[in-house]
Amino acid sequence: MGSSCFSRGNKKTVGFIQNYLKEKGLTDEVSLKGAHCMGECDKGPLMEIDGQLIHYTTETMLQEILDNKLGLTSE
Ligand code: FES
Repeated sequence: MGSSCFSRGNKKTVGFIQNYLKEKGLTDEVSLKGAHCMGECDKGPLMEIDGQLIHYTTETMLQEILDNKLGLTSE
């Protein structure tokens, strides 16, 4: 939630993730935390999930990322 990432759209990212976790009933199982600037502002907005940095985060990519990371894909 550094100022650059925030101004590049991470406010929407946080809202998307919060809604996703509620819809999937995962709010008690998944920890969602804000972070300070990670020093890669030119590649923002950033998010980190399971230690992996995601650059240029958009809402459209979040569904797939969250489904994959949380094992909710149907393969
Ligand atoms: S504010 Fe996000 S990396 Fe700097």
